[in-house]
Amino acid sequence: MAQPLDLIVRNGVVVTAADTRRLDVGVRDGVVVALGTNLPEAPVLDASGCYVFPGFVDPHVHLQLRVGDIVSTDDFETGTVAAACGGVTTLADFTGNARGDDLAEGVRARWAEAEGRIAVDLALHLTLTDASETTLAALPALAAAGHTSAKLYMTYAGLRLDDGEMLRALAACHAQRILPLVHAENHDAVAYLTARLLAAGHSEPRYHPASRPPLVESEAAQRALALAAMVDAPVYLAHVTCRETLAAIAQARARGQQVVAETCPQYLALSSACFDAPGFEAAKYVCTPPLRPAGHGDALWTALAEDELQIVSTDHCPWNHEVEKQRGRDAFSQIPNGLPGVETRIPLLYGLGVAQARLSLQRFVAVAASEPARALGLFPRKGTIAVGSDADLAILDPRGTTTMQAAGLHQRVDYTPFEGWTVPGRLVATVSRGEVIVREGQFLGRRGRGRLLCRQPSPWA
Ligand code: URP
Ligand code: ZN
Repeated sequence: MAQPLDLIVRNGVVVTAADTRRLDVGVRDGVVVALGTNLPEAPVLDASGCYVFPGFVDPHVHLQLRVGDIVSTDDFETGTVAAACGGVTTLADFTGNARGDDLAEGVRARWAEAEGRIAVDLALHLTLTDASETTLAALPALAAAGHTSAKLYMTYAGLRLDDGEMLRALAACHAQRILPLVHAENHDAVAYLTARLLAAGHSEPRYHPASRPPLVESEAAQRALALAAMVDAPVYLAHVTCRETLAAIAQARARGQQVVAETCPQYLALSSACFDAPGFEAAKYVCTPPLRPAGHGDALWTALAEDELQIVSTDHCPWNHEVEKQRGRDAFSQIPNGLPGVETRIPLLYGLGVAQARLSLQRFVAVAASEPARALGLFPRKGTIAVGSDADLAILDPRGTTTMQAAGLHQRVDYTPFEGWTVPGRLVATVSRGEVIVREGQFLGRRGRGRLLCRQPSPWA
């Protein structure tokens, strides 16, 4: 006799990036073992009237990120609980090594911070803060151990790589099939424009976007893509915000390059009009690259729908408005950059994307689950619903609505940029490896239950 199932998710409409079907999902030992309509009796999670999506994958978050003497406010516990409540079952964060540090030790140290604390599964991108022989020599062993992606910053003192370092890092990553995620902004241009604004007395938060206009981003993106072409390497462009960068991506693809590109809900749903908020309120919207004038967001939605952009991450990097953001009272350049969003990505993307016919159900799953999993080298274990995949599921009732309020969210930060927004669709449950960890907004799982993920190379690497 066949072994009994541990759980059946019954009567839902199962949605993957490939299709939409009315199916029950049978789970045993944390894995999907059956998809059908006549599954044997087992404990049931009723999904009548709901969509059953793959657990969502957020490939770009910064939990307890140390910046100087401050630390982003969500730690591995609170951030992963918030993620779970937002339908997310897999996150990817970054190693925290500084320039010259031992990279393998950076991985060990970051693993140690996360281990025993995470509520959902976690991958770590390597952070390449230099391209020394020693650092690059560490890559083969790290790739073999399942760390198959790396972040390359073109800006931020202490993190950024110059063009020679970019070339060496891109080539070394390519040799090991490590997918390089690039933060593309022209560091010197940011420094020049910021100094000029401050010298003119323009110190308020509303001047932040002028210190990093679209050309700052697109010039660096174009340069990163040109450098990658010279060493035949693929590129994953993080947080694309503007038409100019979309054009640079199209140009690179036209010459045959492999480019994976990501945007975030803040660039789709908000605009630089947020900086009209009175006084220091506008500090809430300081992130890099910055929010763009209205119009760029429409271009990003179209690019997502048309597969010019493949991924929506959050770049979740929360700072309290009443505490850490206050550091920039005298100069916008001192405001810690980053927005919270790990819990609100899926409600926003469903509510503004699917419900407003900007994204099909398939495309929604692709950009929020399947393609991020593919980039991480985790597909089809993560990012889809198939026999043999981890039983990671997010169940959403399209008849409900979600109202976003900082007070009701699990993110540990004193605001959300989407305060008071109501969107169609309501997450009703999150299942991680067969365990119902969220029901009706309540986290039912155990902190520490999440696993650290070792990965295959991405097919895009
Ligand atoms: O403002 C942002 N995005 N902060 C987080 C670090 C980064 O640039 O990804
Ligand atoms: Zn970045």
